[in-house]
Amino acid sequence: MANIVVLGVQWGDEGKGKIVDLISEHVDIVARYQGGHNAGHTVIIDDQRVVLHLIPTGILRSGKKCVIGNGVVIDIPALMQEVNDLEKSGVNFEKRLFISDRAHVIMPYHCRADQADKQASGLQHIGTTCRGIGPAYTDKMARLGIKIGDLLDEELFAEKLKINLENRGLNQPKHFKQVFSQYIEYGRKIKPYIVDVSYYLNQALDSGERVLFEGAQGTMLDVDHGTYPYVTSSNATAGGACTGLGVGPTRIEGVLGVVKAYTTRVGNGPFPTELDDAMGEELRLLGDEYGATTGRPRRCGWFDALVVKHALRINGVESLALTKLDVLDKCRQIKLCVGYEWRNVRLTQFPANISTVQQCKPIYEELPGWLTDTRGISSLEALPAATRKYLDRIQELTGVELGLISTGPRREETIINKNTKFTNWLNI
Ligand code: IMP
Repeated sequence: MANIVVLGVQWGDEGKGKIVDLISEHVDIVARYQGGHNAGHTVIIDDQRVVLHLIPTGILRSGKKCVIGNGVVIDIPALMQEVNDLEKSGVNFEKRLFISDRAHVIMPYHCRADQADKQASGLQHIGTTCRGIGPAYTDKMARLGIKIGDLLDEELFAEKLKINLENRGLNQPKHFKQVFSQYIEYGRKIKPYIVDVSYYLNQALDSGERVLFEGAQGTMLDVDHGTYPYVTSSNATAGGACTGLGVGPTRIEGVLGVVKAYTTRVGNGPFPTELDDAMGEELRLLGDEYGATTGRPRRCGWFDALVVKHALRINGVESLALTKLDVLDKCRQIKLCVGYEWRNVRLTQFPANISTVQQCKPIYEELPGWLTDTRGISSLEALPAATRKYLDRIQELTGVELGLISTGPRREETIINKNTKFTNWLNI
């Protein structure tokens, strides 16, 4: 098995949870490189639905190790809650979870600052998950952030906490004392998991262990390459795997993009193929498109080849895992966006300027639906001809193979496309 990055090529929620879970069977370590508990990865195993936010989905496969990199921001109570819940359902954490000493801590004042997003207007209203993610990354870049490792050094932590509370007018001694002792205690509790992740991972790679680098959110939510400012505050793209874990690009042997058979987005910001009609509602219902973290209804629309091509280029994606194909089973006609019309010009690339994106009208190609149940189909040959046509057209438009096609949420509801880069990576 090659060491590969698995990431989303749309606005997140592409179904990475199931794909990472499937591939993790073939690796030793699953390493998460960015984001925080804003993410929600849903995995269905034997009719049991498990939603993970911070801990890589590899934890659900016994013996696999999981790493949370320096690029992740950590809400410690949320992390401990997730560990407790998983332990209750029988997951063993001993020598299986490794947390970077350099990851930044989401503090209570970050969560309160993020709530301000709700009151903001215009460009300031991103529609965040209100988990404190943006403010924690802001402090990191402002060089004020508190790192996980700082919690193990009382003097350093006290100094940093004091500055941060003072900056926010929260410097009452009673408040300081309370936050200080609470976070020192948190540090003690998670100490067994804390390591130098770069050192740990590079040693593991040197000794032949196989690593899956797991991205959260999706390319269009990346702070550099997404629909800025309607993005999250980290690099969800492939480069984030190197900076967020302390591994060199020479360690990564492939990039698998996860793409939904249509498109969804939660939160605000431009979305050219959005359907605000009955069709959009139908996709939401059939695809159960409600946020795994916030429960918010997701905005739904047709597959957008410009979005996907933009993401494939940025990440160097060589194989795609297409998910939720079966959700389109009831559609009479299916549309594929192949270009944008902007001020009478045909655009074939995703624009950088969001006001341009907002003015773009999608140019569609229409394909007949298959009106057949494809749920659970596990071989390409068993798919209806119209479904194959839809998949072939996606491969043509994107120029990238479909290595895997998911036809339902369960592990076995999957088509593996033989003799592809994907099967070569996995050695299957
Ligand atoms: P934040 O990450 O909470 O700051 O939110 C910024 C934007 O990213 C909002 O539009 C969120 O809805 C979106 N977002 C954050 N995490 C996810 C995710 O895991 N899936 C989909 N959207 C997300």
